[in-house]
Amino acid sequence: MTERPYVLLSCATSLDGYLDDASGQRLLLSNEADLDRVDEVRAGCDAILVGAGTVRRDDPRLLVRSARRRAERVARGLPASPTKVTVTGCGDLDPAARFFTTGDAERIVYCATPAVEKTGERLAGRATVVDAGEPVDPAWALADLAARGVDRLMVEGGANVLGQFLTAGLADELHLVLAPFFVGDGRAPRFVGDGSFPWHPGRRARVAETRQIGDVVLVRYALSERCDAG
Ligand SMILES: NC(=O)c1ccc[n+]([C@@H]2O[C@H](COP(=O)([O-])OP(=O)(O)OC[C@H]3O[C@@H](n4cnc5c(N)ncnc54)[C@H](OP(=O)(O)O)[C@@H]3O)[C@@H](O)[C@H]2O)c1
Repeated sequence: MTERPYVLLSCATSLDGYLDDASGQRLLLSNEADLDRVDEVRAGCDAILVGAGTVRRDDPRLLVRSARRRAERVARGLPASPTKVTVTGCGDLDPAARFFTTGDAERIVYCATPAVEKTGERLAGRATVVDAGEPVDPAWALADLAARGVDRLMVEGGANVLGQFLTAGLADELHLVLAPFFVGDGRAPRFVGDGSFPWHPGRRARVAETRQIGDVVLVRYALSERCDAG
């Protein structure tokens, strides 16, 4: 396989495994202390990837929030926040989304071939739009990111994207945060849908760490030999 970055998946779910509710408002699953932990993980990565669905639905900034961590990155010769990366098939991305308008970090859009021209025009000056085939192959995108100098990638959702990285065996580590409540609404997105996962009853993933953070629990799973259980 082509060289790829170290891939760390990160998400928070309800006790019944939902990533969000169906209300149209962004559901806060995490708490302040955990968001600060996520900020630290972000600051240690070269790039952060979310699917186009998350860009549309959550309108995330994907910036390092802490001024101290931004300053430390700059002192190391890095941009204040990691490169932002998204993936789209149809190219329906708003150039006014915070993904494109906040921070100085580079932005890369892996776009399926049929929508590349239109998406390139729409996002001109806002992002580098890369023709990534049809459909976009996550392994190809990872190899391209490696060629652009990305050694460590954080994938922050959503359900569709997390499922693809997991089923393709393209993840080294999973940070799963459990929020202490239920969503109980089948219309909401679950943490991954159906699929053939490399971890199953006959091949269990390894728990590298558990940590209580206020009222949530972080479980860190090692999904490859590259992840140090230390
Ligand atoms: N709790 C958490 O930690 C967390 C984190 C992130 C997101 N979320 C939630 O997750 C939900 C969004 O999840 P989602 O599954 O709807 O969306 P998603 O995974 O963020 O994005 C899916 C979209 O990405 C594009 N895409 C993904 N793989 C592709 C491929 N191989 N080729 C081409 N395009 C590809 C497609 O975009 P196009 O439609 O543009 O073609 C697809 O519709 C939201 O409710 C959000 O709040 C929760």
